[in-house]
Amino acid sequence: MAQNGVAQSDRSSLHGQWSSRFAFVLAVSGSAVGLGNIWKFPYIAGQNGGGAFVLVYLFCVFCVGLPIMMSEVLLGRRGRRNPVSTMALLGEEESGTAAWGLVGASGAIAGFLILSFYSVIAGWTVAYIFKSMSGAFADPTAASVGAVFGSIAGSVEESGFWHTLFLGATIVLVALGVERGIERAVKFMMPALFIIMLVLLGYSMNMGEFERGFNFMFEPDFSKLSSQMILAAMGQAFFTLSIGMGAVMAYGAYLPQDASIVRTSFAVVCVDTAIAVLAGLVIFPIVFANDLDPTSGPGLIFQTLPLAFGQMPGGMYVAALFFLLLAFAALTSAISLMEPAVVWLMEVRDFSRPVAASLVGLVIWSLGFLTVLSFNTLSDFTFLKGTFFDNIDFLTSNIMLPLGGLAITVFCGWVMCTQSSVSELDPEAGSSYEIWRLLSRYVAPVALILVFLNAIGVFA
Ligand code: PFF
Repeated sequence: MAQNGVAQSDRSSLHGQWSSRFAFVLAVSGSAVGLGNIWKFPYIAGQNGGGAFVLVYLFCVFCVGLPIMMSEVLLGRRGRRNPVSTMALLGEEESGTAAWGLVGASGAIAGFLILSFYSVIAGWTVAYIFKSMSGAFADPTAASVGAVFGSIAGSVEESGFWHTLFLGATIVLVALGVERGIERAVKFMMPALFIIMLVLLGYSMNMGEFERGFNFMFEPDFSKLSSQMILAAMGQAFFTLSIGMGAVMAYGAYLPQDASIVRTSFAVVCVDTAIAVLAGLVIFPIVFANDLDPTSGPGLIFQTLPLAFGQMPGGMYVAALFFLLLAFAALTSAISLMEPAVVWLMEVRDFSRPVAASLVGLVIWSLGFLTVLSFNTLSDFTFLKGTFFDNIDFLTSNIMLPLGGLAITVFCGWVMCTQSSVSELDPEAGSSYEIWRLLSRYVAPVALILVFLNAIGVFA
């Protein structure tokens, strides 16, 4: 236990602060809302049988993810540095060892790996903007839409090209250091995305098998519960909330001292969950109405949504706008995936921002080809969990992020002295401090350890 925790962090941020609490909520929402909500949640829920998965997922989001998000913000604001230095500094302060910096370092590596596949999928959404505009989805059938998807994902050149374009944009934005400017973009993008999703929901309710889709998502079939499914739900909770790797910690470093960590985190988690659930409610009715397979995997949204757009008046434009907004949502997430590694390089190697961003970007770009190839040339090359993509996804979402989260919650709940966490949370939290503490000390660590032990077959 720490002897020397400072009452309220008296450090000031090295690079200024958010203009307001709302700006912070926008930036963290920009990181959280992305492909994880609209692309990944429906296909993982589909692969894991729907209702029971969604229930476990919601438990993970609110009982494990939310307290860990609060802890990350707390640590970021208290350390006011990049995640690696913050963890090292606070580790030193609270427990006399800077080895906690390793948590930040492994987070930066996780961000690296995630961005390598994230950029490929985001590239597909960019391709879909152009496909929509060129009329590729006019009069769509399940077969024609499947063929368009196949022609993009199935081609190394196409997929590699869009991956390069998307990652190039990310590198430029990170090099310019605009991560604090994204609040303006997010302010328009998020409500617009939400409105388009509502329009799509209206379509699904009228033209899709809405009741079947709804029941698929919310009627739990507990025979579908399995250790791998619970691990997948936990992994998805971490992925979608951007927690366990320091992205939220990095943003927390700019949070003004008087902003409420509890309320801001809660707002972000609610926005993120609402968009994921909305995406599921849009996709599954279309899946069932068109006899598609809910377990079909990463191509799911790319093979379902164009069917809906194609039958709407002006659908071509709605589709282009939707994929544009999704690409923007992915871009604000991608920036936050890259940021920890870039800032870290800048601080330990003294590189300028553009040099650090280009170097990190180059490595991520090369790694991205493992994912590009996983959907064509190397699709039959499988080991452990499947293709290269499947393995990188599993390693990061289901292992690295939850392990990072475990370290963070143990640090805040057990290592950090009560005085330190109270001073960051309590002034505004009241009884929610007690709830946070209970979740951080017991519920989150125990749930995470059980999920891991279960997944490696200890209880089998
Ligand atoms: N939360 C993002 C999404 O749902 O698309 C992905 C992500 C961003 C994961 C940033 C992790 C992260 F640090």
